[in-house]
Amino acid sequence: MKSLSTLVSIFFLRSIVYAQLLPLPIFNPLDPRFYDWQPPGPDDSRGPCPALNSLANHGFLPHSGKSITAIDLIRGAFEGLGLSPEFSAIAGVAELLKSYTLASFDLHELSNHGFIDHDCSLSRPDIGDGDNNDFNETIWSVPLQVLKNYSIVTPQVIGAARTARDLFDFAHNPAQDCGARSIALGALENGLLLASLGGSPKLEWVRSIIEHERLPTDLGFTPTPLLINNSPIILTLGVDSLLSQPQLIKLLGNITIKTPTDLLAEVFPMKNYNLTYITSVLELAGFPSVDFSNLL
Ligand SMILES: *[C@@H]1O[C@H](CO)[C@@H](O)[C@H](O)[C@H]1NC(C)=O
Ligand SMILES: *[C@@H]1O[C@H](CO)[C@@H](O)[C@H](O)[C@H]1NC(C)=O
Ligand SMILES: *[C@@H]1O[C@H](CO)[C@@H](O)[C@H](O)[C@H]1NC(C)=O
Ligand SMILES: *[C@@H]1O[C@H](CO)[C@@H](O)[C@H](O)[C@H]1NC(C)=O
Repeated sequence: MKSLSTLVSIFFLRSIVYAQLLPLPIFNPLDPRFYDWQPPGPDDSRGPCPALNSLANHGFLPHSGKSITAIDLIRGAFEGLGLSPEFSAIAGVAELLKSYTLASFDLHELSNHGFIDHDCSLSRPDIGDGDNNDFNETIWSVPLQVLKNYSIVTPQVIGAARTARDLFDFAHNPAQDCGARSIALGALENGLLLASLGGSPKLEWVRSIIEHERLPTDLGFTPTPLLINNSPIILTLGVDSLLSQPQLIKLLGNITIKTPTDLLAEVFPMKNYNLTYITSVLELAGFPSVDFSNLL
C-alpha cells in the first residue's frame, strides 16, 4: 500500500501535464507506424515480452524502450495491438507497482520483476538458465517444432506448443519454476498473441512477432478495427488454449482454471488492485469512464 500511494502521488503530480496533452487515443488501422519497423539500436532497451518489444520497434512505445510509464503502455498497446485499456491497465499498473522505479521503467527491467517474466517462456530461457531477457533460438525451437505442423495458429495449436515447451523444461531444467502461475501467465500470453493478430493468425505472423518483434503487416496482416472491451475475448482464447492441454491442466495441481474469471484471478487478482486508482490512471491516459465490470 505504501508503494501504491507513492505511485498515486507521482501520477497526480504529472496529471496536469498529461491532462492537457493526451486526447482520447484512436485505433487507426492505417497508422503509418504499423508499416514502419525499425530494429533496436545498440543503446535501445528491449525486454522479455516480444509484443512490447514489437510496439517499441514500431514506435507505439518510445523506440529507445526507456522511461516508459503505465500511460505509455496503455496508449501504445491500444494503438498498436488493439488491446482494451482496462486490460492493459491491470497488467501495466500492477507491473509498475512491482518495479523499484515506480513511475517509469526500461523494457529490459521487465526481466527482473518475476511478474510478466516467468519460467517456461516460449522464447526465453528460465531465469538462471541463460539470458532470460533476449530471444533464444534454442528455447524457441522446442515449441516451434509443434507450431511448424500448422499454418494457422489456433488456441489448441499454441496450447500444444506450450505443452511441448513446459515438458521440455521439466525434463531439462531441474530448477525450473513452471507451476500454476507460469502456466496461467502462459495461457494469458497465448490469448494476447492470438487476439492481437486477429484471433487465428498465420504461423508466419506469430513467428514475425516472436522472432523479429515485428507486427507482420509486411506479411499480409491487416490491423482490424478495435473491438471495445476485448478483454473477455483475450481471456477466452487463453482459457481455450489451456483447456485443450490435459498435461498442462495436470501441472496446475489443485488450481482450477476453467473460465476467463478463473484465469484472471490466477494472474491478476482484481481484488488486490485499487480500481478507483486504476480508473484515474486511465483518465490520465485519455480514456474517460472505463468500465471494469466485464472483468469482475
Ligand atoms: C539459450 O538457451 C540455452 C538453453 O537454456 C542456453 O544454454 C544458452 O546459453 C542460451 N543462449 C543465450 C545466448 O543465452
Ligand atoms: C509435428 O510434426 C512432427 C513431425 O514433423 C511430429 O513428430 C509431431 O508429432 C507433430 N506434433 C504435433 C503436435 O502435431
Ligand atoms: C495446493 O497444493 C499446494 C502444493 O502443491 C499445497 O501447498 C496447498 O496446500 C494446496 N492447497 C489446497 C487448497 O489443497
Ligand atoms: C484508492 O485510490 C484512491 C485514489 O485514486 C484513494 O483515494 C483511495 O484511498 C484508495 N483506496 C485504498 C483502499 O487505498
